[in-house]
Amino acid sequence: MTFKVTWLGHAAFSLEMNGVKILIDPFLNGNPKASVSADEVDADYIVLTHGHGDHVGDTVAIARRTGATTISNVEISQWLARQGVKKVKGLNTGGGGNFDFGSAELTIAFHSSTLPDGTYGGMPNGVILTSKDGKKFYHAGDTSLFSDMKLIGEKGIDLAVLPIGGWYTMGPDDGARAIEFIKPKVAVPIHYNTFPVIGIDDPGAWAKSVGKKTDTKVLLLKPGESYEL
Ligand code: NI
Ligand code: MN
Repeated sequence: MTFKVTWLGHAAFSLEMNGVKILIDPFLNGNPKASVSADEVDADYIVLTHGHGDHVGDTVAIARRTGATTISNVEISQWLARQGVKKVKGLNTGGGGNFDFGSAELTIAFHSSTLPDGTYGGMPNGVILTSKDGKKFYHAGDTSLFSDMKLIGEKGIDLAVLPIGGWYTMGPDDGARAIEFIKPKVAVPIHYNTFPVIGIDDPGAWAKSVGKKTDTKVLLLKPGESYEL
């Protein structure tokens, strides 16, 4: 089975799970680091971690064009339906469901969540996507460090992507502690250097020091680059 994960910049990913195309947090147009524009991507599903503009991004336009099904919490799914998105799946924290690519589970994340028009977006989430052959991808969303990341790690995470840019989320130090809690096989830092306020001086040095402290392979991707699970 194929499970290919491509970073599109910031918190946006494109996944291919056994032929099914999944976008996560597709903030592409207006994202200075995006590797593709919103009209170039294809999707069967769009997964959203929370309602902020740098995550919801181009979801409505992409869903309308592709007919993709969205997966998010209930509040965001209701908002998307009101924007004209036809197929929405509204889950909630700690819940999950089976889909034709495998399964999706919404985890906790400590952050806030307001949709672009000011509507309350419910609780922010992370998401675990599991392929039919059991490979687990964890997108932490926007979050602070929390000790229950250990519980997420106990599920056996193959690839974790997590924010390290600071200001709105964990910075590099707490990002390193998160990796110690989760113990994924591979970790990819995201949500840094998109804007000056979330700038990181030397991500390479950070990756090296975390890699030395843990058994996790810390991988720096450039927007557009992929990792195959
Ligand atoms: Ni946010
Ligand atoms: Mn964000």
